[in-house]
Amino acid sequence: MSARTVPILPCPESAAIAFTPSASGHPLEAPQITNISPTTQKHLRIAASHLHASRLVAFPTETVYGLGANTLDPTATAKVYALKGRPSDNPLIVHVSSLRMLRSLIPQDQQQISDVYLALIDSFWPGPLTLLFPARNPPRPPPAPQTIGIRLPSHPLARALITEADLPISAPSANSSGRPSPTSAAHVFADLGRKGAEPVLGSRGEVLDETRMLGCILDAGPCDVGVESTVVDGTQWSTDPTGTRLLKVLRPGGVGVEQIEKVVAAVDDKLGFLGTDRTKVWVYGRDPPMDSSASKASAPVIHSPRPQSTASSITSQPEIHNPSTPGMKYKHYSPSIPVYLLYPTNTFPANPLQHSTAANPDKPEEVWKHIADQLVAARADSTTANTQSPRTLRFGLMAFNDSPLSSALRTPANDARTVTYMCGEGTVEITTEIKSLGRTEEDAARALFRDMLAFEGSPAISTRVEADAPEALAESTSSQSRSHTESAIAASPGVDAIIIEACSEKGVGLAVMERVNKAVGGGGTGEGLGIRGTSGQQKRFWVDTGM
Ligand code: TXA
Ligand code: MG
Repeated sequence: MSARTVPILPCPESAAIAFTPSASGHPLEAPQITNISPTTQKHLRIAASHLHASRLVAFPTETVYGLGANTLDPTATAKVYALKGRPSDNPLIVHVSSLRMLRSLIPQDQQQISDVYLALIDSFWPGPLTLLFPARNPPRPPPAPQTIGIRLPSHPLARALITEADLPISAPSANSSGRPSPTSAAHVFADLGRKGAEPVLGSRGEVLDETRMLGCILDAGPCDVGVESTVVDGTQWSTDPTGTRLLKVLRPGGVGVEQIEKVVAAVDDKLGFLGTDRTKVWVYGRDPPMDSSASKASAPVIHSPRPQSTASSITSQPEIHNPSTPGMKYKHYSPSIPVYLLYPTNTFPANPLQHSTAANPDKPEEVWKHIADQLVAARADSTTANTQSPRTLRFGLMAFNDSPLSSALRTPANDARTVTYMCGEGTVEITTEIKSLGRTEEDAARALFRDMLAFEGSPAISTRVEADAPEALAESTSSQSRSHTESAIAASPGVDAIIIEACSEKGVGLAVMERVNKAVGGGGTGEGLGIRGTSGQQKRFWVDTGM
């Protein structure tokens, strides 16, 4: 008998779901759904009933697919941590559909939204921006965050689900902890489709709940942005003359830092803040760590009154603070195969790699041979016989359209090219397959996780339709649902190495490079980034494309 799996419910015409802005007050005060297709409406109702019954629902957002639980139901949010294998100190982002819902989550005496947050909301909500607010019920004692990250997503199906369920939804990306984020329903299914269908067990293995943890996966096709939201902490920002005007971008994401800086500058202009009174935007991965005792050049301007220096504060070590989200310290976005990063000379004329002594860039074929040597050595180490060096290797290259790098590695007629090198004792044949990152940073963001997951290959999983499921667990039996699932998860072999062409850190490019660097290993953007990965092997190369 095949194992039970979670149903995928198709939600056709999601893009056409419309919302009427609130007639009075802010347009996002309490928008209402109009115009939704009957199938999508039916499937949203099923999903909402799962949420009300403490089950999880995977749903698309404009960034990545989320694994949603009712924020107000600790039994449900505990299942998110259990199903993902997520560390318990990593808080979840809460998704809301209205400002009214947002206010229900923050303390009664702090309902006033700051000018800078209002401007960011007006510019980027609905959209891929998460803002930290003071939490009504701080979940854990300090130093755990006493804040709650909230966003109003722009994906019409996500907004409709929150509106239909009339619940705030806590949702991390719908992947097992540490894996690349899913950008399609098939990705979610391949990762959680089987585990999510299991009954809920207690710590001694006893059955706590006969029903599956993950009620369903809503499918509205691929995500538009492809990397997660930008997380911003503006909780210390105030217009008070003695207050702090600091905004911290804790995680780069779908909204570019330059866009945020523009909005913030307009707020400063409007309020007449000049010189050192202007808001400092500090960005994790771009700016040096904040050093509370350092010169003004690297430290953000803090407007709060400083305590008088004391003997102990003078002699103590300066506090170097590099704030990010709790989640940023964990291993992330890692496919199960090695990932390499290439900086081509046509876009990086100067060596961008810190800790590199190489005066000259490597030729592409030298890099290919270097990677092959590493893989051959790793295979030899892992086989006891030590004689079974691989004769063939498959490389998956993610490169920009028609970039000199991809041209150098492509045959005129084909997107794959095979070359033979001497490696160790014998020859090795390398076939390089190319997937396009498109032309822009936005294209690269959309392709990044999708193509990493595709190059990694997918396991063979078959679906089973439960014939007599109760209403709340009802399956979609439409052929569209099943054929989509089956075709998307047919087994495909993975490549031996994923090789990614670097992009600029402009706009969403900063988030792309932060995710890529995590996948390569050895530190995020700007964190003393070296040429080596966590394995100690060279994982980053500066490549001469001859231009
Ligand atoms: O685009 C997104 O943000 C996606 C979709 C599903 O909305 N969600 C997402 O969630 O990426 P997750 O859990 O994979 O990442 C959330 C990040 C983590 O790094 C977490 O530490 C941080 O946000 N975070 C959440 N609440 C926080 C808080 N109160 N203070 C600081 N960081 C917080
Ligand atoms: Mg995640």
